[in-house]
Amino acid sequence: MARELRPGTKVIRSARSLPPGEGAPVAPPLVQSVAFDYRSAAEQDRVFAGDKSGYVYGRYGTPTTAALESALAELDGAEAVVCFASGMAAIAAFVDACAIASGGRVVAQEDSYGQTRALFERWIRERGAKIVFVDVTDHAKVERAMREAPTTLLYVEAMANPLLRITDVAALAKMAHSSGATLAVDATFATPLLVQPLALGADVVIHSLTKYINGHGDVMGGSVAGKADVAKAMRDRTILDGGYMPPHEAWLCIRGMRTLEVRMRRHCDNAMRVATFLAAHPKVSLVRYPGLTSHPQHELARRQFGGKFGGIVTFDLKVGSQDAAFRFLDALQLAASATTLGDLWSEVLYPSISSHRRIAPEERKRLGITDGTLRLSVGIEDPDDLIGDLENALAHV
Ligand SMILES: Cc1ncc(COP(=O)(O)O)c(C=O)c1O
Repeated sequence: MARELRPGTKVIRSARSLPPGEGAPVAPPLVQSVAFDYRSAAEQDRVFAGDKSGYVYGRYGTPTTAALESALAELDGAEAVVCFASGMAAIAAFVDACAIASGGRVVAQEDSYGQTRALFERWIRERGAKIVFVDVTDHAKVERAMREAPTTLLYVEAMANPLLRITDVAALAKMAHSSGATLAVDATFATPLLVQPLALGADVVIHSLTKYINGHGDVMGGSVAGKADVAKAMRDRTILDGGYMPPHEAWLCIRGMRTLEVRMRRHCDNAMRVATFLAAHPKVSLVRYPGLTSHPQHELARRQFGGKFGGIVTFDLKVGSQDAAFRFLDALQLAASATTLGDLWSEVLYPSISSHRRIAPEERKRLGITDGTLRLSVGIEDPDDLIGDLENALAHV
């Protein structure tokens, strides 16, 4: 274009690219662009067709989100990863694509994250989905459930939310595969640092990136890791269902993820101290923490998670009433009473009014989630300050 452009056009087209110069940035570029300009329509056609790698539109992939996907693939030991706008978006996309959409049957962990279970229950009600719930720590029950009818997917959490039951990934992978089923593992609580489900035989790993992987309470995201065909199906979901992770979220998540290893070490150390404190407290009737020898799957946890036990401690108040739980929550000064986990700071969640609110009260009770059950995500504060805060809040119960 030889003609000098007028100011009104110049400003619109200004600063589309960065001036060239020596020196690679140490932080990844944030490419906050929805669309990508092609000077050659033929090239664009090849990218749309999938014959050439490239970027076309925000739901298909963005360079910054792709950088996060590559980093996660390396951490999970996966061929490929696709990121979603939240953990739930990742779970919904994968389970639907793998089983529900084609009428496949799912055997699912009964005590999974409450909203995962609520989603599955909604699919049963609204879509007639074939999903059965089992205690996946009871292998005979899993085996029976898998053999009752042809099963497409076995869906579990490596360390379940909120009761911290531990899933034996290697054993369940064998069981799933001997029935011709896929094993998908939500490893949000354990993170790729404590468990590598793919190396243990699982086919797919899902994370809520909102939790430990980002770790700073300012990003929602989810990921599905697996073989290239899984990634292809997931990419189709982000394109048509639209739940892709935007670049700014991905950029923040990359920044958060850089400190995952040091954070996890401190989360695990602090959680062990807090669990030990709570276990000896007269106002606490039960402490669930895989690091305590009282945890029924302590040995499995030790073996599967490489001697680390995570940052979540679930405990029951001796006075198991909502009134007592509210008094405890209202008296906390350091730990936030908040519906999330895995952040730098400590957070306490009351499952029966939040994550498990949609689960019928009698089913909650059967699973072991009572009105006295609280889930504490132990932060990386000084553990003595945190224990002091808990001690003071327990005095109000
Ligand atoms: C184990 C587990 N999986 C999935 C999710 C859903 O993730 P998100 O809140 O990012 O949608 C959560 C949320 O708490 C979770 O705890």
